[in-house]
Amino acid sequence: MRALIINGSARGAKGVTAKLAGALAEGLVRGGASVDTLFVADMSIAPCTACLSCMHLNPGHCAQRDDMDLVLPLLKQADLLVWAAPVYTDTVSAQTKAVMDRTICSKQPFLYQDAGGRVRHPKNWDMPSKVMVVSTCSFPEPVNFEPLVATIRAQTANFGGRCLAELCVPGSLAIQMEPTVLEPHLALIAQAGLEVAQEGRVRPGTLAAIKRPPFSVDRYWELAGRYEEWCRKKQAKMAGKRDRKS
Ligand SMILES: Cc1cc2nc3c(=O)[nH]c(=O)nc-3n(C[C@H](O)[C@H](O)[C@H](O)COP(=O)(O)O)c2cc1C
Repeated sequence: MRALIINGSARGAKGVTAKLAGALAEGLVRGGASVDTLFVADMSIAPCTACLSCMHLNPGHCAQRDDMDLVLPLLKQADLLVWAAPVYTDTVSAQTKAVMDRTICSKQPFLYQDAGGRVRHPKNWDMPSKVMVVSTCSFPEPVNFEPLVATIRAQTANFGGRCLAELCVPGSLAIQMEPTVLEPHLALIAQAGLEVAQEGRVRPGTLAAIKRPPFSVDRYWELAGRYEEWCRKKQAKMAGKRDRKS
Protein backbone atom coordinates (compact mmCIF):
# COMPACT_ATOMS: atom_id res chain seq x y z
CA MET A 1 0.00 0.00 0.00
CA ARG A 2 1.22 3.49 -0.90
CA ALA A 3 -0.15 6.24 1.32
CA LEU A 4 -0.07 9.99 0.84
CA ILE A 5 -0.70 12.23 3.86
CA ILE A 6 -1.64 15.83 3.04
CA ASN A 7 -1.29 18.01 6.13
CA GLY A 8 -3.39 21.17 5.78
CA SER A 9 -2.47 22.82 9.11
CA ALA A 10 -1.00 26.33 8.89
CA ARG A 11 1.36 25.22 11.68
CA GLY A 12 2.63 22.29 9.64
CA ALA A 13 4.94 19.94 11.53
CA LYS A 14 4.50 21.93 14.78
CA GLY A 15 0.76 21.28 15.07
CA VAL A 16 -1.30 18.65 16.85
CA THR A 17 -2.55 17.43 13.44
CA ALA A 18 1.04 16.49 12.58
CA LYS A 19 1.28 14.44 15.79
CA LEU A 20 -1.88 12.51 14.91
CA ALA A 21 -0.78 12.03 11.28
CA GLY A 22 2.70 11.02 12.43
CA ALA A 23 1.23 8.26 14.61
CA LEU A 24 -0.91 7.03 11.71
CA ALA A 25 2.14 7.04 9.41
CA GLU A 26 4.14 5.07 11.96
CA GLY A 27 1.42 2.38 12.11
CA LEU A 28 1.04 2.28 8.33
CA VAL A 29 4.80 1.79 7.90
CA ARG A 30 4.83 -0.91 10.60
CA GLY A 31 2.11 -2.66 8.60
CA GLY A 32 4.24 -2.59 5.43
CA ALA A 33 2.92 0.54 3.68
CA SER A 34 5.08 3.28 2.22
CA VAL A 35 4.09 6.80 3.29
CA ASP A 36 4.72 10.25 1.80
CA THR A 37 3.77 13.28 3.90
CA LEU A 38 3.27 16.75 2.46
CA PHE A 39 2.85 19.91 4.54
CA VAL A 40 0.80 22.38 2.53
CA ALA A 41 2.02 25.21 4.81
CA ASP A 42 5.55 24.67 3.47
CA MET A 43 4.38 24.64 -0.14
CA SER A 44 3.07 27.20 -2.55
CA ILE A 45 -0.37 26.07 -3.71
CA ALA A 46 -2.75 28.67 -5.13
CA PRO A 47 -6.53 28.25 -5.18
CA CYS A 48 -8.18 26.90 -8.34
CA THR A 49 -8.84 29.76 -10.77
CA ALA A 50 -11.71 27.92 -12.49
CA CYS A 51 -10.02 28.43 -15.87
CA LEU A 52 -11.17 24.87 -16.71
CA SER A 53 -8.19 24.41 -19.00
CA CYS A 54 -7.84 20.98 -17.31
CA MET A 55 -11.23 19.99 -18.70
CA HIS A 56 -11.08 21.51 -22.19
CA LEU A 57 -7.68 22.74 -23.41
CA ASN A 58 -5.33 20.19 -21.85
CA PRO A 59 -7.49 17.41 -20.31
CA GLY A 60 -6.19 16.06 -17.00
CA HIS A 61 -3.50 18.72 -16.57
CA CYS A 62 -3.73 21.78 -14.35
CA ALA A 63 -2.72 25.02 -16.09
CA GLN A 64 -1.17 26.53 -12.93
CA ARG A 65 2.55 25.90 -12.29
CA ASP A 66 3.19 25.71 -8.53
CA ASP A 67 3.77 23.02 -5.88
CA MET A 68 0.63 21.19 -6.95
CA ASP A 69 3.06 19.79 -9.55
CA LEU A 70 4.58 17.80 -6.66
CA VAL A 71 1.22 16.73 -5.20
CA LEU A 72 -0.48 15.45 -8.36
CA PRO A 73 2.05 12.70 -9.27
CA LEU A 74 1.95 11.42 -5.67
CA LEU A 75 -1.87 11.43 -5.72
CA LYS A 76 -1.87 9.43 -8.95
CA GLN A 77 0.40 6.76 -7.40
CA ALA A 78 -1.27 6.52 -3.97
CA ASP A 79 -3.80 3.85 -2.93
CA LEU A 80 -4.61 5.68 0.29
CA LEU A 81 -5.07 9.43 0.69
CA VAL A 82 -5.02 10.78 4.25
CA TRP A 83 -6.41 14.27 4.76
CA ALA A 84 -4.63 15.50 7.89
CA ALA A 85 -7.04 18.38 8.21
CA PRO A 86 -7.55 20.50 11.34
CA VAL A 87 -10.87 22.27 11.91
CA TYR A 88 -10.70 25.93 10.84
CA THR A 89 -13.91 27.93 11.35
CA ASP A 90 -15.96 24.75 11.50
CA THR A 91 -14.59 23.00 8.42
CA VAL A 92 -11.35 22.26 6.53
CA SER A 93 -8.59 24.90 6.37
CA ALA A 94 -8.06 26.99 3.25
CA GLN A 95 -4.78 25.10 2.77
CA THR A 96 -6.64 21.77 2.62
CA LYS A 97 -9.40 23.17 0.43
CA ALA A 98 -6.93 24.62 -2.08
CA VAL A 99 -5.49 21.13 -2.66
CA MET A 100 -8.98 19.58 -2.81
CA ASP A 101 -10.18 22.04 -5.43
CA ARG A 102 -7.05 21.66 -7.53
CA THR A 103 -7.77 17.90 -7.89
CA ILE A 104 -10.64 18.91 -10.20
CA CYS A 105 -8.11 18.29 -12.99
CA SER A 106 -8.77 14.57 -12.41
CA LYS A 107 -12.21 15.10 -13.98
CA GLN A 108 -13.57 15.34 -17.51
CA PRO A 109 -16.20 17.95 -18.44
CA PHE A 110 -18.81 15.31 -19.40
CA LEU A 111 -21.60 14.01 -17.17
CA TYR A 112 -22.94 10.65 -16.03
CA GLN A 113 -25.10 9.27 -13.23
CA ASP A 114 -23.27 7.24 -10.59
CA ALA A 115 -24.59 4.07 -8.91
CA GLY A 116 -26.39 6.23 -6.34
CA GLY A 117 -28.14 8.29 -9.05
CA ARG A 118 -25.93 11.36 -8.50
CA VAL A 119 -24.74 13.38 -11.51
CA ARG A 120 -20.95 13.33 -11.68
CA HIS A 121 -18.08 14.14 -14.02
CA PRO A 122 -16.18 11.09 -15.31
CA LYS A 123 -12.46 10.82 -14.56
CA ASN A 124 -9.38 11.77 -16.52
CA TRP A 125 -7.31 9.85 -14.00
CA ASP A 126 -7.97 8.02 -10.72
CA MET A 127 -7.74 9.69 -7.33
CA PRO A 128 -6.73 7.28 -4.51
CA SER A 129 -9.57 4.81 -3.98
CA LYS A 130 -9.20 4.79 -0.19
CA VAL A 131 -9.38 7.90 1.99
CA MET A 132 -8.86 8.56 5.69
CA VAL A 133 -9.15 11.67 7.82
CA VAL A 134 -7.12 12.71 10.84
CA SER A 135 -8.28 15.88 12.51
CA THR A 136 -8.22 17.93 15.65
CA CYS A 137 -9.93 21.06 16.93
CA SER A 138 -9.55 23.30 19.98
CA PHE A 139 -12.94 22.75 21.52
CA PRO A 140 -13.79 19.52 23.35
CA GLU A 141 -17.02 18.42 21.66
CA PRO A 142 -16.84 15.81 18.84
CA VAL A 143 -19.74 17.64 17.12
CA ASN A 144 -17.15 20.24 15.99
CA PHE A 145 -15.92 17.74 13.37
CA GLU A 146 -19.29 17.22 11.67
CA PRO A 147 -18.99 19.81 8.84
CA LEU A 148 -15.36 18.82 8.12
CA VAL A 149 -16.20 15.12 8.01
CA ALA A 150 -19.26 15.80 5.83
CA THR A 151 -17.11 17.85 3.41
CA ILE A 152 -14.41 15.19 3.09
CA ARG A 153 -16.96 12.36 2.78
CA ALA A 154 -18.79 14.27 0.03
CA GLN A 155 -15.54 15.09 -1.79
CA THR A 156 -14.41 11.45 -1.54
CA ALA A 157 -17.71 10.18 -2.97
CA ASN A 158 -17.60 12.82 -5.72
CA PHE A 159 -14.11 11.64 -6.71
CA GLY A 160 -15.07 7.94 -6.65
CA GLY A 161 -13.28 6.96 -3.44
CA ARG A 162 -14.29 5.35 -0.16
CA CYS A 163 -13.72 6.79 3.33
CA LEU A 164 -12.21 4.07 5.51
CA ALA A 165 -12.24 6.01 8.77
CA GLU A 166 -12.20 9.45 10.33
CA LEU A 167 -9.84 9.71 13.30
CA CYS A 168 -10.84 12.94 15.03
CA VAL A 169 -9.43 13.98 18.41
CA PRO A 170 -11.01 17.11 19.93
CA GLY A 171 -9.59 19.49 22.54
CA SER A 172 -6.21 20.44 21.02
CA LEU A 173 -6.20 23.56 23.20
CA ALA A 174 -6.02 21.37 26.31
CA ILE A 175 -3.75 18.80 24.65
CA GLN A 176 -1.18 21.54 24.08
CA MET A 177 -1.24 22.40 27.80
CA GLU A 178 -0.63 18.76 28.74
CA PRO A 179 0.71 16.84 25.70
CA THR A 180 0.90 13.56 27.65
CA VAL A 181 -2.93 13.29 27.58
CA LEU A 182 -2.60 12.53 23.87
CA GLU A 183 -0.27 9.55 24.27
CA PRO A 184 -2.95 6.79 24.55
CA HIS A 185 -4.65 8.21 21.44
CA LEU A 186 -1.39 8.30 19.51
CA ALA A 187 -0.88 4.61 20.29
CA LEU A 188 -4.45 3.84 19.14
CA ILE A 189 -4.03 5.85 15.93
CA ALA A 190 -0.78 4.00 15.19
CA GLN A 191 -2.73 0.75 15.74
CA ALA A 192 -5.36 2.03 13.25
CA GLY A 193 -2.59 2.61 10.69
CA LEU A 194 -1.26 -0.90 11.20
CA GLU A 195 -4.76 -2.35 10.73
CA VAL A 196 -5.36 -0.34 7.55
CA ALA A 197 -2.04 -1.45 6.06
CA GLN A 198 -2.59 -5.10 6.96
CA GLU A 199 -6.38 -5.54 6.75
CA GLY A 200 -7.60 -2.56 4.68
CA ARG A 201 -9.79 -1.32 7.54
CA VAL A 202 -9.75 0.03 11.08
CA ARG A 203 -11.21 -2.52 13.47
CA PRO A 204 -14.46 -1.30 15.13
CA GLY A 205 -12.94 -1.59 18.64
CA THR A 206 -9.95 0.57 17.67
CA LEU A 207 -12.21 3.19 16.07
CA ALA A 208 -14.53 3.26 19.10
CA ALA A 209 -11.54 3.80 21.44
CA ILE A 210 -10.20 6.65 19.24
CA LYS A 211 -13.63 8.29 19.28
CA ARG A 212 -13.55 8.61 23.09
CA PRO A 213 -12.28 12.12 23.92
CA PRO A 214 -8.81 12.08 25.55
CA PHE A 215 -10.09 13.72 28.77
CA SER A 216 -13.20 14.27 30.87
CA VAL A 217 -15.09 17.57 30.67
CA ASP A 218 -13.68 18.53 34.11
CA ARG A 219 -10.10 17.85 33.02
CA TYR A 220 -10.68 19.89 29.85
CA TRP A 221 -11.83 22.88 31.92
CA GLU A 222 -8.87 22.50 34.26
CA LEU A 223 -6.44 22.56 31.29
CA ALA A 224 -8.45 25.34 29.59
CA GLY A 225 -7.97 27.38 32.78
CA ARG A 226 -4.20 26.97 32.42
CA TYR A 227 -4.52 27.98 28.76
CA GLU A 228 -6.41 31.16 29.67
CA GLU A 229 -3.79 32.02 32.28
CA TRP A 230 -1.09 31.57 29.60
CA CYS A 231 -3.11 33.83 27.22
CA ARG A 232 -3.36 36.59 29.85
CA LYS A 233 0.39 36.49 30.50
CA LYS A 234 1.11 36.54 26.78
CA GLN A 235 -1.24 39.52 26.20
CA ALA A 236 0.41 41.42 29.07
CA LYS A 237 3.88 40.68 27.63
CA MET A 238 2.80 41.83 24.16
CA ALA A 239 1.16 44.97 25.57
CA GLY A 240 4.48 45.79 27.28
CA LYS A 241 6.33 45.34 23.97
CA ARG A 242 3.78 47.54 22.15
CA ASP A 243 4.01 50.27 24.78
CA ARG A 244 7.82 50.30 24.66
CA LYS A 245 7.67 50.69 20.83
CA SER A 246 5.24 53.66 20.88
C1 LIG B 1 -8.39 30.16 11.56
C2 LIG B 1 -8.68 29.13 12.62
C3 LIG B 1 -9.98 28.75 12.83
C4 LIG B 1 -10.28 27.79 13.81
N1 LIG B 1 -11.58 27.41 13.99
C5 LIG B 1 -11.88 26.45 14.93
C6 LIG B 1 -13.23 26.04 15.11
O1 LIG B 1 -14.14 26.48 14.44
N2 LIG B 1 -13.48 25.11 16.08
C7 LIG B 1 -12.48 24.59 16.87
O2 LIG B 1 -12.76 23.76 17.75
N3 LIG B 1 -11.17 24.95 16.68
C8 LIG B 1 -10.86 25.87 15.73
N4 LIG B 1 -9.55 26.26 15.52
C9 LIG B 1 -8.50 25.64 16.33
C10 LIG B 1 -7.74 24.55 15.58
O3 LIG B 1 -8.59 23.53 15.13
C11 LIG B 1 -6.70 23.97 16.53
O4 LIG B 1 -5.80 25.00 16.93
C12 LIG B 1 -5.91 22.84 15.95
O5 LIG B 1 -5.01 22.37 16.93
C13 LIG B 1 -5.15 23.27 14.70
O6 LIG B 1 -4.37 22.23 14.21
P1 LIG B 1 -2.78 22.22 14.43
O7 LIG B 1 -2.54 22.03 15.90
O8 LIG B 1 -2.31 21.09 13.62
O9 LIG B 1 -2.26 23.54 13.95
C14 LIG B 1 -9.23 27.22 14.57
C15 LIG B 1 -7.90 27.63 14.35
C16 LIG B 1 -7.63 28.58 13.39
C17 LIG B 1 -6.20 29.00 13.15
